Amino acid sequence: MTEYETILVETRGRVGWITLNRPEALNALNATLVREVVGASTTFDRDPGIGAIVITGSAKAFAAGADIKEMAEQGYIDMYLNDPFRGWAEFERVRTPLIAAVAGFALGGGCELAMMCDIILAADTAKFGQPEINLGVIPGIGGTQRLPRAIGKYKAAELVLTGRLMGAEEAERAGLISRIVPAAELLDEAALVAETIASKSLPVVYAAKDALQAAQETGLAEGIRFEKQAFAATFALDDQSEGMAAFRDKRTAHFSHR
Ligand code: CAA
Repeated sequence: MTEYETILVETRGRVGWITLNRPEALNALNATLVREVVGASTTFDRDPGIGAIVITGSAKAFAAGADIKEMAEQGYIDMYLNDPFRGWAEFERVRTPLIAAVAGFALGGGCELAMMCDIILAADTAKFGQPEINLGVIPGIGGTQRLPRAIGKYKAAELVLTGRLMGAEEAERAGLISRIVPAAELLDEAALVAETIASKSLPVVYAAKDALQAAQETGLAEGIRFEKQAFAATFALDDQSEGMAAFRDKRTAHFSHR
Protein backbone atom coordinates (compact mmCIF):
# COMPACT_ATOMS: atom_id res chain seq x y z
CA MET A 1 0.00 0.00 0.00
CA THR A 2 1.45 3.35 -1.04
CA GLU A 3 1.94 5.87 1.75
CA TYR A 4 0.79 9.40 0.95
CA GLU A 5 1.67 12.62 2.76
CA THR A 6 -0.77 15.12 1.29
CA ILE A 7 -3.77 13.08 0.17
CA LEU A 8 -6.05 10.36 1.50
CA VAL A 9 -6.75 7.52 -0.87
CA GLU A 10 -9.52 4.98 -0.56
CA THR A 11 -11.32 2.44 -2.72
CA ARG A 12 -15.07 2.02 -2.21
CA GLY A 13 -16.38 -0.73 -4.45
CA ARG A 14 -15.52 0.30 -8.01
CA VAL A 15 -14.87 3.95 -7.10
CA GLY A 16 -11.47 5.42 -6.25
CA TRP A 17 -11.48 8.37 -3.83
CA ILE A 18 -8.71 10.96 -3.56
CA THR A 19 -9.09 13.57 -0.81
CA LEU A 20 -6.65 16.47 -0.86
CA ASN A 21 -5.34 16.78 2.67
CA ARG A 22 -3.14 19.80 3.40
CA PRO A 23 -5.57 21.65 5.69
CA GLU A 24 -2.81 23.97 6.94
CA ALA A 25 -2.44 25.38 3.40
CA LEU A 26 -6.04 25.07 2.16
CA ASN A 27 -4.88 22.15 0.01
CA ALA A 28 -2.45 24.30 -1.98
CA LEU A 29 -0.91 22.18 -4.73
CA ASN A 30 2.74 21.80 -3.75
CA ALA A 31 5.13 19.47 -5.60
CA THR A 32 4.40 16.54 -3.28
CA LEU A 33 0.64 16.92 -3.65
CA VAL A 34 0.85 17.13 -7.44
CA ARG A 35 3.04 14.01 -7.55
CA GLU A 36 0.69 12.15 -5.21
CA VAL A 37 -2.57 13.13 -6.95
CA VAL A 38 -1.11 12.18 -10.33
CA GLY A 39 0.33 8.93 -8.89
CA ALA A 40 -2.92 7.90 -7.17
CA SER A 41 -5.07 8.77 -10.21
CA THR A 42 -2.86 6.87 -12.65
CA THR A 43 -2.75 3.87 -10.28
CA PHE A 44 -6.57 3.84 -10.15
CA ASP A 45 -6.62 4.31 -13.93
CA ARG A 46 -4.55 1.17 -14.49
CA ASP A 47 -6.94 -0.88 -12.30
CA PRO A 48 -9.84 -2.36 -14.32
CA GLY A 49 -11.67 -2.78 -11.00
CA ILE A 50 -12.05 1.01 -10.81
CA GLY A 51 -14.72 2.62 -12.99
CA ALA A 52 -14.71 6.23 -11.70
CA ILE A 53 -12.50 8.47 -9.55
CA VAL A 54 -13.72 11.19 -7.17
CA ILE A 55 -11.37 14.03 -6.25
CA THR A 56 -12.38 16.20 -3.32
CA GLY A 57 -10.95 18.50 -0.68
CA SER A 58 -12.29 19.82 2.63
CA ALA A 59 -15.38 21.82 3.53
CA LYS A 60 -13.29 25.01 3.42
CA ALA A 61 -11.20 24.38 0.32
CA PHE A 62 -11.09 22.07 -2.65
CA ALA A 63 -7.70 23.68 -3.32
CA ALA A 64 -6.59 27.32 -2.98
CA GLY A 65 -4.20 27.08 -5.93
CA ALA A 66 -0.60 26.24 -6.65
CA ASP A 67 1.56 26.62 -3.54
CA ILE A 68 2.51 30.30 -3.52
CA LYS A 69 5.16 29.87 -0.81
CA GLU A 70 6.87 27.16 -2.88
CA MET A 71 6.78 29.31 -6.04
CA ALA A 72 7.73 32.64 -4.47
CA GLU A 73 11.51 32.24 -4.83
CA GLN A 74 11.43 30.65 -8.29
CA GLY A 75 12.71 32.38 -11.41
CA TYR A 76 11.91 32.04 -15.09
CA ILE A 77 14.49 29.32 -15.69
CA ASP A 78 13.10 27.21 -12.81
CA MET A 79 9.62 27.40 -14.28
CA TYR A 80 10.78 26.85 -17.86
CA LEU A 81 13.31 24.06 -17.31
CA ASN A 82 11.86 22.29 -14.30
CA ASP A 83 8.21 22.93 -15.15
CA PRO A 84 6.74 22.07 -11.75
CA PHE A 85 3.31 21.50 -13.34
CA ARG A 86 4.41 18.92 -15.92
CA GLY A 87 2.93 16.05 -13.89
CA TRP A 88 -0.54 17.30 -14.82
CA ALA A 89 0.05 16.18 -18.44
CA GLU A 90 -0.13 12.60 -17.15
CA PHE A 91 -3.29 13.43 -15.20
CA GLU A 92 -4.89 14.73 -18.41
CA ARG A 93 -4.36 11.29 -19.96
CA VAL A 94 -6.33 9.44 -17.24
CA ARG A 95 -9.06 7.52 -19.07
CA THR A 96 -11.26 6.74 -16.06
CA PRO A 97 -13.92 9.43 -15.54
CA LEU A 98 -12.86 11.99 -12.95
CA ILE A 99 -15.44 13.70 -10.75
CA ALA A 100 -14.40 16.83 -8.86
CA ALA A 101 -16.51 17.31 -5.72
CA VAL A 102 -15.84 20.95 -4.84
CA ALA A 103 -16.67 22.70 -1.57
CA GLY A 104 -15.16 26.03 -0.56
CA PHE A 105 -12.29 27.58 -2.50
CA ALA A 106 -11.29 26.25 -5.93
CA LEU A 107 -8.84 28.96 -6.93
CA GLY A 108 -6.01 29.17 -9.44
CA GLY A 109 -4.55 25.68 -9.79
CA GLY A 110 -7.52 24.40 -7.72
CA CYS A 111 -9.99 25.67 -10.30
CA GLU A 112 -7.72 24.30 -13.02
CA LEU A 113 -7.63 20.88 -11.34
CA ALA A 114 -11.44 20.84 -11.20
CA MET A 115 -11.55 21.80 -14.89
CA MET A 116 -9.24 18.89 -15.78
CA CYS A 117 -11.93 16.56 -14.39
CA ASP A 118 -14.90 15.38 -16.44
CA ILE A 119 -17.67 16.38 -14.05
CA ILE A 120 -17.66 19.16 -11.45
CA LEU A 121 -20.20 18.84 -8.63
CA ALA A 122 -20.17 21.95 -6.47
CA ALA A 123 -21.42 22.50 -2.93
CA ASP A 124 -23.38 25.72 -2.47
CA THR A 125 -20.29 26.98 -0.58
CA ALA A 126 -17.98 26.64 -3.61
CA LYS A 127 -16.03 29.64 -4.88
CA PHE A 128 -14.21 29.49 -8.18
CA GLY A 129 -11.65 31.88 -9.60
CA GLN A 130 -8.32 32.47 -11.27
CA PRO A 131 -6.81 35.14 -8.98
CA GLU A 132 -3.22 34.73 -10.25
CA ILE A 133 -3.26 38.29 -11.63
CA ASN A 134 -3.17 39.52 -8.01
CA LEU A 135 0.16 37.71 -7.58
CA GLY A 136 1.69 39.22 -10.70
CA VAL A 137 1.38 36.00 -12.73
CA ILE A 138 -1.21 34.30 -14.94
CA PRO A 139 -2.86 30.85 -14.71
CA GLY A 140 -0.37 28.10 -15.53
CA ILE A 141 -2.28 24.79 -15.56
CA GLY A 142 -4.70 25.50 -18.38
CA GLY A 143 -6.90 28.21 -16.82
CA THR A 144 -6.67 30.62 -19.75
CA GLN A 145 -7.63 27.80 -22.13
CA ARG A 146 -10.23 25.71 -20.31
CA LEU A 147 -12.11 28.55 -18.62
CA PRO A 148 -13.05 30.35 -21.89
CA ARG A 149 -14.05 27.00 -23.42
CA ALA A 150 -16.31 26.36 -20.42
CA ILE A 151 -17.87 29.77 -19.80
CA GLY A 152 -17.06 31.83 -22.91
CA LYS A 153 -14.37 34.36 -23.67
CA TYR A 154 -15.88 37.43 -22.06
CA LYS A 155 -16.72 36.04 -18.65
CA ALA A 156 -13.42 34.14 -18.53
CA ALA A 157 -11.56 37.33 -19.43
CA GLU A 158 -13.25 39.24 -16.64
CA LEU A 159 -12.34 36.58 -14.08
CA VAL A 160 -8.74 36.14 -15.27
CA LEU A 161 -8.03 39.86 -15.70
CA THR A 162 -9.62 41.06 -12.44
CA GLY A 163 -9.07 38.01 -10.21
CA ARG A 164 -12.74 38.16 -9.09
CA LEU A 165 -14.14 34.99 -7.53
CA MET A 166 -17.54 33.58 -8.45
CA GLY A 167 -19.89 31.59 -6.25
CA ALA A 168 -21.58 28.28 -7.06
CA GLU A 169 -24.75 29.83 -8.50
CA GLU A 170 -22.87 32.06 -10.90
CA ALA A 171 -20.61 29.13 -11.84
CA GLU A 172 -23.66 27.00 -12.60
CA ARG A 173 -25.30 29.75 -14.69
CA ALA A 174 -22.02 30.16 -16.58
CA GLY A 175 -21.77 26.44 -17.35
CA LEU A 176 -18.58 25.76 -15.38
CA ILE A 177 -20.10 23.12 -13.14
CA SER A 178 -22.38 20.15 -13.64
CA ARG A 179 -24.69 21.19 -10.79
CA ILE A 180 -24.96 22.55 -7.25
CA VAL A 181 -25.54 20.25 -4.29
CA PRO A 182 -26.19 21.25 -0.64
CA ALA A 183 -22.78 21.13 1.11
CA ALA A 184 -23.86 18.37 3.51
CA GLU A 185 -24.84 16.12 0.58
CA LEU A 186 -21.84 16.75 -1.68
CA LEU A 187 -19.92 13.54 -1.00
CA ASP A 188 -23.02 11.31 -1.08
CA GLU A 189 -24.04 12.84 -4.39
CA ALA A 190 -20.50 12.43 -5.78
CA ALA A 191 -20.57 8.78 -4.67
CA LEU A 192 -23.89 8.26 -6.45
CA VAL A 193 -22.66 9.79 -9.70
CA ALA A 194 -19.39 7.83 -9.52
CA GLU A 195 -21.13 4.51 -8.74
CA THR A 196 -23.55 5.06 -11.61
CA ILE A 197 -20.69 5.60 -14.07
CA ALA A 198 -18.73 2.67 -12.60
CA SER A 199 -21.71 0.33 -13.19
CA LYS A 200 -21.51 0.84 -16.98
CA SER A 201 -19.27 -0.97 -19.44
CA LEU A 202 -15.70 0.30 -18.82
CA PRO A 203 -14.57 0.30 -22.48
CA VAL A 204 -17.77 2.07 -23.53
CA VAL A 205 -17.23 4.67 -20.80
CA TYR A 206 -13.67 5.16 -22.11
CA ALA A 207 -15.05 5.63 -25.64
CA ALA A 208 -17.59 8.20 -24.44
CA LYS A 209 -14.92 10.10 -22.48
CA ASP A 210 -12.56 10.04 -25.49
CA ALA A 211 -15.28 11.45 -27.73
CA LEU A 212 -16.19 14.17 -25.22
CA GLN A 213 -12.48 15.02 -25.00
CA ALA A 214 -12.34 15.32 -28.80
CA ALA A 215 -15.07 17.98 -28.56
CA GLN A 216 -12.68 20.09 -26.48
CA GLU A 217 -9.69 19.59 -28.73
CA THR A 218 -10.89 19.45 -32.35
CA GLY A 219 -13.22 21.19 -34.79
CA LEU A 220 -16.78 19.93 -35.32
CA ALA A 221 -16.18 17.91 -38.53
CA GLU A 222 -13.16 16.13 -37.07
CA GLY A 223 -15.01 15.52 -33.79
CA ILE A 224 -17.99 14.01 -35.62
CA ARG A 225 -15.66 11.71 -37.60
CA PHE A 226 -14.02 10.65 -34.32
CA GLU A 227 -17.43 9.93 -32.77
CA LYS A 228 -18.53 7.88 -35.79
CA GLN A 229 -15.52 5.58 -35.45
CA ALA A 230 -15.84 5.31 -31.67
CA PHE A 231 -19.58 4.58 -31.97
CA ALA A 232 -18.92 1.82 -34.52
CA ALA A 233 -16.21 0.37 -32.27
CA THR A 234 -18.67 -0.14 -29.41
CA PHE A 235 -20.41 -2.71 -31.66
CA ALA A 236 -17.30 -4.88 -31.40
CA LEU A 237 -17.99 -5.44 -27.70
CA ASP A 238 -20.23 -8.03 -26.03
CA ASP A 239 -21.54 -5.16 -23.92
CA GLN A 240 -23.38 -3.69 -26.90
CA SER A 241 -25.32 -6.94 -27.53
CA GLU A 242 -25.92 -7.37 -23.79
CA GLY A 243 -27.12 -3.76 -23.36
CA MET A 244 -29.54 -3.99 -26.27
CA ALA A 245 -30.75 -7.50 -25.35
CA ALA A 246 -31.41 -6.28 -21.80
CA PHE A 247 -33.51 -3.41 -23.19
CA ARG A 248 -35.47 -5.79 -25.39
CA ASP A 249 -36.01 -8.25 -22.49
CA LYS A 250 -36.93 -5.45 -20.04
CA ARG A 251 -34.16 -6.36 -17.57
CA THR A 252 -31.02 -4.69 -16.19
CA ALA A 253 -27.92 -5.11 -18.36
CA HIS A 254 -25.00 -7.08 -16.91
CA PHE A 255 -21.90 -5.77 -18.60
CA SER A 256 -18.97 -8.17 -18.80
CA HIS A 257 -16.36 -5.40 -19.03
CA ARG A 258 -17.32 -3.62 -15.81
N1 CAA B 1 -0.34 28.62 -1.46
C1 CAA B 1 0.25 28.48 -0.26
N2 CAA B 1 -0.40 28.67 0.92
C2 CAA B 1 -1.69 29.02 0.85
C3 CAA B 1 -2.38 29.19 -0.36
C4 CAA B 1 -1.65 28.96 -1.57
N3 CAA B 1 -2.21 29.05 -2.76
N4 CAA B 1 -3.64 29.56 -0.09
C5 CAA B 1 -3.75 29.62 1.24
N5 CAA B 1 -2.58 29.29 1.82
C6 CAA B 1 -2.25 29.24 3.26
C7 CAA B 1 -2.17 30.63 3.85
O1 CAA B 1 -0.90 31.20 3.62
C8 CAA B 1 -2.43 30.35 5.31
O2 CAA B 1 -1.24 29.81 5.88
P1 CAA B 1 -0.66 30.47 7.26
O3 CAA B 1 -1.71 30.14 8.27
O4 CAA B 1 0.63 29.73 7.46
O5 CAA B 1 -0.53 31.93 7.02
C9 CAA B 1 -3.45 29.19 5.26
O6 CAA B 1 -3.33 28.63 3.95
C10 CAA B 1 -4.88 29.67 5.44
O7 CAA B 1 -5.12 30.68 4.47
P2 CAA B 1 -5.70 32.13 4.85
O8 CAA B 1 -5.31 32.51 6.26
O9 CAA B 1 -5.29 33.08 3.78
O10 CAA B 1 -7.26 31.83 4.82
P3 CAA B 1 -8.44 32.87 4.52
O11 CAA B 1 -9.70 32.15 4.82
O12 CAA B 1 -8.19 34.17 5.22
O13 CAA B 1 -8.36 33.17 2.95
C11 CAA B 1 -8.13 32.56 0.62
C12 CAA B 1 -8.63 32.14 2.03
C13 CAA B 1 -8.97 33.73 0.11
C14 CAA B 1 -8.33 31.34 -0.28
C15 CAA B 1 -6.64 32.97 0.69
O14 CAA B 1 -5.92 31.97 1.37
C16 CAA B 1 -6.00 33.17 -0.66
O15 CAA B 1 -6.23 34.17 -1.30
N6 CAA B 1 -5.17 32.18 -1.10
C17 CAA B 1 -4.45 32.28 -2.36
C18 CAA B 1 -5.35 32.07 -3.55
C19 CAA B 1 -4.55 32.23 -4.83
O16 CAA B 1 -4.02 33.28 -5.11
N7 CAA B 1 -4.46 31.15 -5.61
C20 CAA B 1 -3.70 31.15 -6.86
C21 CAA B 1 -2.34 30.58 -6.59
S1 CAA B 1 -1.25 30.73 -8.00
C22 CAA B 1 -1.68 29.48 -9.04
O17 CAA B 1 -2.53 28.68 -8.75
C23 CAA B 1 -0.92 29.45 -10.35
C24 CAA B 1 -1.40 28.43 -11.31
O18 CAA B 1 -2.33 28.64 -12.06
C25 CAA B 1 -0.69 27.21 -11.47
